[in-house]
Amino acid sequence: MNAATVTTSPSLALIKYWGKSDREKNLPATSSIAVTLDGLLTETTVARAQRDQVFINGVESPIDRFTAFFDHVRKTLKTDERFAVESEVNFPVAAGLASSSSGFAALALACGQLIDPSISKQTISEMARVGSASAARSVFGGFTILKKESAFAEPLNIDWPELHIIVAIVKPEAKSLSSRKAMELSRTTSPYYDAWLKQSDRLFDEAFIALKDKDLDALGPLMQQSYLAMFSTMLTSTPPTLYWEPETLKIIKTCESIRQEGLTVWETMDAGPQVKLACLKKDLNAVLIQIQEQHPDVKLLISRAGGEPH
Ligand code: PMV
Repeated sequence: MNAATVTTSPSLALIKYWGKSDREKNLPATSSIAVTLDGLLTETTVARAQRDQVFINGVESPIDRFTAFFDHVRKTLKTDERFAVESEVNFPVAAGLASSSSGFAALALACGQLIDPSISKQTISEMARVGSASAARSVFGGFTILKKESAFAEPLNIDWPELHIIVAIVKPEAKSLSSRKAMELSRTTSPYYDAWLKQSDRLFDEAFIALKDKDLDALGPLMQQSYLAMFSTMLTSTPPTLYWEPETLKIIKTCESIRQEGLTVWETMDAGPQVKLACLKKDLNAVLIQIQEQHPDVKLLISRAGGEPH
């Protein structure tokens, strides 16, 4: 085989990973719970080549972002092979929509398929983590966890088809500061970083139970605390990181007012200005109508748990 093609979906954290316990190995400092988003797709083809090269939507990416990943892949798969990569992504890249999670997961899966198809999913998840910790989760579809200091993610056997995610794209352009740099600033300069680590342990434990119970009324407030506590470390970094746009806050406020009307919808955010809203299928249309009416310029993508790599 000279080439392998894999399609993956991004991993949206409901309880966030933010900060590394080991920078060299790229191990997470907090435990995260996530859902892989169906319908948002990264299709990646990896071929044997003379040198490592990565094209995303036809544009060549600087290779230094991939060096540690490819070196780790070669070591794990016991090969000297070089890889030429072409990746097509059907949602905004580097804009806080976890494109690095689906990207490195697809890369790890395709390299595995090309060099050693018998390799375990756990080892693929470990390889993906070296590229981007959230990618360890994207190797699996559905709901997943990545425990703090852990080398690989684990799939959760939870079937919750009623849970839907609305992705509100406030600004599709790539962000100027990567999540990698922003979380390092949080770790090294925020006075709230230690409190964040402590809070994350509690949120993970409680959210894990709420997810197993498929209880969005219990899970939602924990999701909200998680992303707001994560952002509190960014706001208190030196220099501060502010990914939010005015429209971001307006959507959060709309979400709050929809909740006050009695519908269950809870927002979360990642390292970018986009807002993701979690609601149940029975409320989806009512939530969509309000968001569309109040934010006519915001593009909405509708997703749910799924995104099994293929
Ligand atoms: O895996 P990275 O380096 O792209 O960082 C992901 C960080 C968040 O998306 C903000 C949270 C998460 O757990 O996915």
